[in-house]
Formats: sequence, C-alpha cells, structure tokens
Amino acid sequence: MKTIGVIGSGIMGSGIAQVCATAGFKVWLYDVAQEQLKKAHASVQSSLEKLASKGKLTTAQRDQAIRNLNITTQFSDLKESDFCIEAATEKKELKKKIFKNLDSLVKAEVILASNTSSIPITEIAAATKRPDKIIGMHFMNPVPLMECVEIIRAKTTSDATHKTTLELTKKLGKTPVTVKDAPGFVINRILAPMLNEAVNCLEEGLATKEDIDLAMKIGCNFPMGPLSLADFVGLDTCLYILEVMGRKPSELLKKMVAEGKLGRKTGEGFYKYGI
Ligand SMILES: NC(=O)c1ccc[n+]([C@@H]2O[C@H](COP(=O)([O-])OP(=O)(O)OC[C@H]3O[C@@H](n4cnc5c(N)ncnc54)[C@H](O)[C@@H]3O)[C@@H](O)[C@H]2O)c1
Repeated sequence: MKTIGVIGSGIMGSGIAQVCATAGFKVWLYDVAQEQLKKAHASVQSSLEKLASKGKLTTAQRDQAIRNLNITTQFSDLKESDFCIEAATEKKELKKKIFKNLDSLVKAEVILASNTSSIPITEIAAATKRPDKIIGMHFMNPVPLMECVEIIRAKTTSDATHKTTLELTKKLGKTPVTVKDAPGFVINRILAPMLNEAVNCLEEGLATKEDIDLAMKIGCNFPMGPLSLADFVGLDTCLYILEVMGRKPSELLKKMVAEGKLGRKTGEGFYKYGI
C-alpha cells in the first residue's frame, strides 16, 4: 500500500491526510472546495511545524510529510489510491454518492473506509459493488493527537478488510478499537447525548456556559468542558449525529446551527474564536 486517497479536507480530512503523510504514504487529499483545500494544506503545514518544534518529528520527517501531501479538486486524481478514507460532510446521501463514485473509479481490490460519526456503514456499503471492502474508520479530533480509531465492521465487511484496516491504523500510530455497526457506534452513542445535555443545561439557564464547562472539568476530570468540546467537534456535526441516533436535539443547538454558528470552524459557537 503506497497511496492513500482522503475525501473531504475539513477538520477531520486534513488531520487524517496529515497522519497518513507522516506515516510515509503518498496522499491525495480531495475536496470540492478549493479554498478549503488551501486552508487544509496550511493547517497541516502549521501542525507539522509545531510537532517538529516540540521535537515530536524530525525536520526531515516534517519535510517528507509535506512532500507526501497532494491536494486536488479533481476526483480522478484519487484513481491511483490503494486505500481511501472518506471524511466529507456528515450527510448520508452525500456519502453514498461519494462511495458509489469511488467504487467506479478505484481498483477493485481497494478498501473504502468512512470516517462517519454516525451513519450506518452497512448502508454506505450497499451503495457499492464491493460491500466486503467497506469499513468504518472513526478517527478522533484532533486526529494528529488522539490515539483511538473506532473500527466499524459493516454486516458485509470481510475478515481480510478488517485485518488490513487494523494494520493500517497501527501504521498510522493509532490504536484501533473494533465495534459493531449501530447508530453512533460506541463513542458517539455515549458522547453525543452528553454534549446535548450540556446544551440543554445552558438553554434552561442552569448555569453559565463557563460554569457548565468548569463543573465538568473539575467535577468529572474532563480535559475540556462539553460546550467547548461541542464547538471543537462542530455544532452541525453534533446535530446530525443526534438526528441519526434518533435523539431529540436541544432547541438551542438547532437554532445555532441554523444561524451558522457552527463552533471553531466558523469562528463562533458557544464561544468566539479568532480564525
Ligand atoms: N468534527 C469532529 O470532531 C469529527 C470527529 C470524528 C468524525 N467526524 C466525521 O468526519 C466527517 C467530516 O467532518 P468534519 O468535522 O471534518 O467536517 P467539515 O465540515 O470540517 O469538513 C467537511 C468537508 O467535506 C467537504 N465536502 C463536501 N462535499 C464533498 C464532496 N462531495 N466531495 C469531497 N468533499 C466534500 C467540504 O467541502 C468540507 O471541506 C463527518 O463524517 C464527521 O461526522 C467528525
């Protein structure tokens, strides 16, 4: 396996491209939005600089990783991929379309993985003619720093696909945890309702946003408060996960998404961020 195709260059796709490029793979990072690709390239570069300045990468490793990363708006550039990881917007129909198109483009033996937070992998697999080679690879945010990757086996995923994906995850310096294909898998099944409850607490005026975050940090030893974490994940992504899981999203969460306050990526969510 030499070349990895990454589809979607947002928060997650850029991080996934970075860890693949750092692990020595040639990467094609594809997005429909040219501006987003430029942002992704700059953010990978700056993240690699930071890791090198902290001594976590040598300057040679940093430079090689940058050389390994190629950005493109041409879907056909993904053709030479030996493994694909999709990290486009969390919308079921969009993902099904991307998988159908990838299925027609790449070699028959290529495994197609989705970083979806909540969409059933079995449904995505059904959009292709290679359902045995479809799997979930749910990376955590921020990808370069977080160790866990939830590996989701669709009903149709073969043992060989599972084995290759576990090996790749380890090559990327991550620890895989295999889970069954159910809405929200394991991490978001637990995390998303918790974040939603934090928004409900704010909406009901139980405490200020700062105090809700502080209480969970010093009361539960969370490294980050739930409202800060929701901003970090993206409020649109949080909302979509809750909907897919059949949970009732907080009215405040819905309102903020409708207003385009999506968290860090748009500069404003529960908090304001310089972008
Ligand atoms: N944000 C998180 O904390 C987190 C964590 C784990 C998994 N995920 C999942 O990762 C995926 C991406 O999430 P994100 O937070 O990076 O979202 P994002 O909004 O930051 O990025 C999504 C990207 O997909 C691109 N895109 C849209 N349509 C496309 C298409 N047809 N082809 C290629 N690219 C397309 C958009 O231009 C955008 O750059 C989602 O499935 C999400 O559920 C997110």
